[in-house]
Amino acid sequence: MPSETLDRFLNENLQELKDQGLYNEIDPVEGANGPEITINGQKLINLSSNNYLGLATDERLKEVAQQAVDSHGVGAGAVRTINGTLDLHVKLEEKIAEFKGTESAIAYQSGFNCNMAAISAVMDKNDAILSDSLNHASIIDGCRLSKAKIIPYGHNDMEDLRQKAKEATESGQYNKVMVITDGVFSMDGDVAKLPEIVEIAEEFDLITYVDDAHGSGVLGKGAGTVKHFGLQDKIDFQMGTLSKAIGVVGGYVAGKQELVDWLKVRSRPFLFSTSLSPADVTASTKAIDILMESTELYDKMWENGNYLKEGLKGLGFNIGESETPITPCVIGDEKTTQQFSKRLNEEGVYAKAIVFPTVPRGTGRVRNMPTAAHTKEMLDNAIKIYEKVGKEMGVI
Ligand SMILES: Cc1ncc(COP(=O)(O)O)c(C=O)c1O
Repeated sequence: MPSETLDRFLNENLQELKDQGLYNEIDPVEGANGPEITINGQKLINLSSNNYLGLATDERLKEVAQQAVDSHGVGAGAVRTINGTLDLHVKLEEKIAEFKGTESAIAYQSGFNCNMAAISAVMDKNDAILSDSLNHASIIDGCRLSKAKIIPYGHNDMEDLRQKAKEATESGQYNKVMVITDGVFSMDGDVAKLPEIVEIAEEFDLITYVDDAHGSGVLGKGAGTVKHFGLQDKIDFQMGTLSKAIGVVGGYVAGKQELVDWLKVRSRPFLFSTSLSPADVTASTKAIDILMESTELYDKMWENGNYLKEGLKGLGFNIGESETPITPCVIGDEKTTQQFSKRLNEEGVYAKAIVFPTVPRGTGRVRNMPTAAHTKEMLDNAIKIYEKVGKEMGVI
């Protein structure tokens, strides 16, 4: 017999979320996640994906993925440490290390589980982690799992970080202290101050961990935020995903050989969860090859990003502090944000409302991500729709 306690819990809490405008309706996409998508039979300009370079639907990736299915099957068949390490995984990891400028790399099934895996493999209850207050949920959960003391510092606030690093190290309470940050903050598009972070880390002997889920493919000619600042030798963990600019699925850490050796024996999803499929691995390797060969997609993404940004800013939208093509339109109130996104949708633009808990309460926004695959015509149409809806709702 189903639990009445569970029923009560679910009904009360779901209703509360709906009343507060915080319940997220999921709209299945009918077909591929390209620059235009179809939802409920309606064609929409898609400004909500993380498919920064348009690689999720790239013919070259599709071709090699199909070949990998033919040669290696659809599944890896085991966890990495039994016999789920295929030659394709080794090739991918070598490619990631080359791309990131590190000695070695290790791949995981997702970016989320990569953070869960890697942080907790190195940090424990006798350690402390200094964590930017806008870090991604997977970083927060990875830190929690490690049982280390979590010490949040103000977003990109280097004075606060220095002060807290000093207190943590001088307290003598912790064996190891790590500083962890997103490279590019996904909901705001601003960039971590890595040169200052490295300086503070060197002063206080901190372990450095950069989650570059949104920086890879987007900064440093594609190689990421660490490369953008020329700090490849200074960051211990260059974490990234294969699911955003790379267009496929998976996560990784690039770093020193000993770090990767340790993660291979101590990070639990590597040991206890079946490895990435042959098609995913092969498509990801191909994507990195493409990025290393040419900046064509990268340049196009930046051109489109700047174009949309100027257009929305020119209309009077608050696009925050973005330094990358990620372009938020901050609306504020959650219900107005949801309504704004709904109206955009009705007019032909898919730009999802992002509200608490993904961003702090009262900072609801519509997050726009133009990709390399958008045409100028699509972006012009989107800007016109923003103008219409913005004026209608008194947002601009
Ligand atoms: C900063 C950051 N890290 C990690 C992840 C998780 O990556 P994945 O989607 O590959 O699991 C995300 C995804 O949104 C992210 O934004």
